[in-house]
Amino acid sequence: MPNRVNAEKPVGVFDSGLGGLTVLSAIQEKLPNENLIYFGDTARVPYGSKSKETVIKYSLEILDFLLEKKVKMIVAACNTVSAYAIEEMRKKSSVPVIGVIEPCVKTVSQKAPENEKIAVIATKSTIKSGAYEKLLKKVRPDVYLFSKAAPLFVPLVEEGFSEKAVTEEIIKEYLDEISKEKIKHIILGCTHYPLLKKTIKRIYPEFILYDSSIETALFLELKLKENQLQSQNKAAGQIELFVSDVTDSLYDLEKLFFGKTIDRIEKVLLGW
Ligand code: DGL
Repeated sequence: MPNRVNAEKPVGVFDSGLGGLTVLSAIQEKLPNENLIYFGDTARVPYGSKSKETVIKYSLEILDFLLEKKVKMIVAACNTVSAYAIEEMRKKSSVPVIGVIEPCVKTVSQKAPENEKIAVIATKSTIKSGAYEKLLKKVRPDVYLFSKAAPLFVPLVEEGFSEKAVTEEIIKEYLDEISKEKIKHIILGCTHYPLLKKTIKRIYPEFILYDSSIETALFLELKLKENQLQSQNKAAGQIELFVSDVTDSLYDLEKLFFGKTIDRIEKVLLGW
């Protein structure tokens, strides 16, 4: 039986900016009845080149904000947050906190054959953290993980260049090494990379791509069930969007990462 008092509360989803809307979109598709609150730290993005201390500080401020909104569960949609701050958040949170790394590692570890090579591409900070290695080694000590930072993918995607020739060149620059190593299983360890799937597959049809947005939506569904927190709402859930800065590119990025704009937007100030 679902926990009636808490089950109708919203799920809080957050990211360094609007890239995490790829995760929100996958969640909405999988769990259309859930009410969702999204926070994008548009004033302080990017996190992918920031230090661990800074990412933890920002993440804990956002945690407080989401807890004040009485969310029932929190999804850290940002890979860099999941890599650097998830443990600190879990220590301080009164509700369960899910990151995007664990769901992807779970799926890849179930699918990759014995002694397989796997690659992860992500921001510099996520790669530096070694978070994917640590989790993967726990469940699959036999596999070899090749880690590669691909920082230029973020601005290229935001610029709407996902399918341009210049992006193909940069994809080759980062991923040729992986292809030469005959690695087939590739984890897309950043909010923005799902938008490059088509172009990556065009260049490397042999790659099997793991999209953390889809894996996280499935994982959230599982965790809501385990905690008896699935909404019993029959109508479509509501989405509220909070940002720390209303930037010029806000609406364009919403369309890019979410496919449409969200009506209810509010600006909030954190930790200034
Ligand atoms: N959201 C970040 C991530 O998934 C990418 C953008 C940033 O660097 O803040 O790691």
